[in-house]
Amino acid sequence: MILAIESSCDDTAVALLTPQGEVLYSEISSQIKLHQSFGGVVPEIASRQHLKALPLLIQHLFTQVGKTPLDLTSIAVTQSPGLIGSVLVGVSYAKALAWALKLPLVPVDHLEGHLLAPFLDHPQLRFPYLALIASGGHTHLILAQGLGQYQLLGKTLDDACGEAYDKTAKIMGFPYPGGPTIEKLARHCPSPSYSFTLPLRGKKTLNFSFSGLKTAVLNQAKALEIRVEKKELIDYSQFMQEADEPRKTKVCDLAASFQQTVEKIIAQRMDQALKLYPAPQVVLTGGVAANEGLRRVLTKVAAKNRAAFFAPSLPYCSDNAAMIGFVASQYLKVKAFPLDLSLNANSKSPIALMECSHEG
Ligand code: KG4
Ligand code: ZN
Repeated sequence: MILAIESSCDDTAVALLTPQGEVLYSEISSQIKLHQSFGGVVPEIASRQHLKALPLLIQHLFTQVGKTPLDLTSIAVTQSPGLIGSVLVGVSYAKALAWALKLPLVPVDHLEGHLLAPFLDHPQLRFPYLALIASGGHTHLILAQGLGQYQLLGKTLDDACGEAYDKTAKIMGFPYPGGPTIEKLARHCPSPSYSFTLPLRGKKTLNFSFSGLKTAVLNQAKALEIRVEKKELIDYSQFMQEADEPRKTKVCDLAASFQQTVEKIIAQRMDQALKLYPAPQVVLTGGVAANEGLRRVLTKVAAKNRAAFFAPSLPYCSDNAAMIGFVASQYLKVKAFPLDLSLNANSKSPIALMECSHEG
């Protein structure tokens, strides 16, 4: 059995998988509440919390599944990318455990975890597929041709897609993570009023850009007098209970206008990509893949291009250890992983750093 550990940002996650990659147990301990009052993830707090949570989560995992460390056959751990202190906690823990149990240790790139996450719920998915990884830190359009055979076609030139959601939410006074809040607010406004310029319009590029959209939202929020400057962030439920009707109308309209623009950006890029790199399957993955509107528009774009659409189920969109264990299960089928105690954490992702193969 594979024990998987993920601690790259503000979630401590563990999972247990069969050697075939079937998930037996997956648990996440979120630190969101600890960081919220600071307006973002505080690296030092994050690593200390991983240090506390990891042994408890692993102990709980064994109790829940009725197994012991002696039932393990290998250990998988996120080696990159992330907050270096956070990744280091997971890597050190995994190294110590693998050394004590004399087990293979499989280092996994978090982005490859997101890239293969849809397989956890959709074993019928096959290579090749065109995938958009959209999370809080990355927006990468990748042609996945096989295990470890990834071609980077485009990426964000500035903010990540999830970051744009988070910043838009913050402008209107909502805490991190902003994506789910914006999605809920947008549902109250079926016909948004504001149309924002689509970035990189008319260019042949498959890259993305979200910083212009963020500025446009900021300007609109100022014009509507709904920008929240002070740090007193309130959540969606509190806002819906306490805000007056005119404010609610404006905030929901701006959220829906932003959501509609992101849908257009993503749909257009995927359509362009499918025309240039026809693939039988399209994937949306990463935290932002939880967004129903984006799933809906990409289902349409895929169908228009005779492709099937896949996204992970909600628990596997955001950071989790099951996807890390799954990647390890696939590599363990084709390669040996002798215990390497010199293995180190890396804040950068080799996948994210790949050269973009698409010219345009
Ligand atoms: O993959 P993830 O859990 O962590 C990173 O690796 O970054 O992604 C987190 C990001 C955040 O920016 C969050 O606002 C966004 O995913 N997100 C969403 C939704 N749920 C989470 N964005 C849009 N709509 C959602 N429903
Ligand atoms: Zn992630």
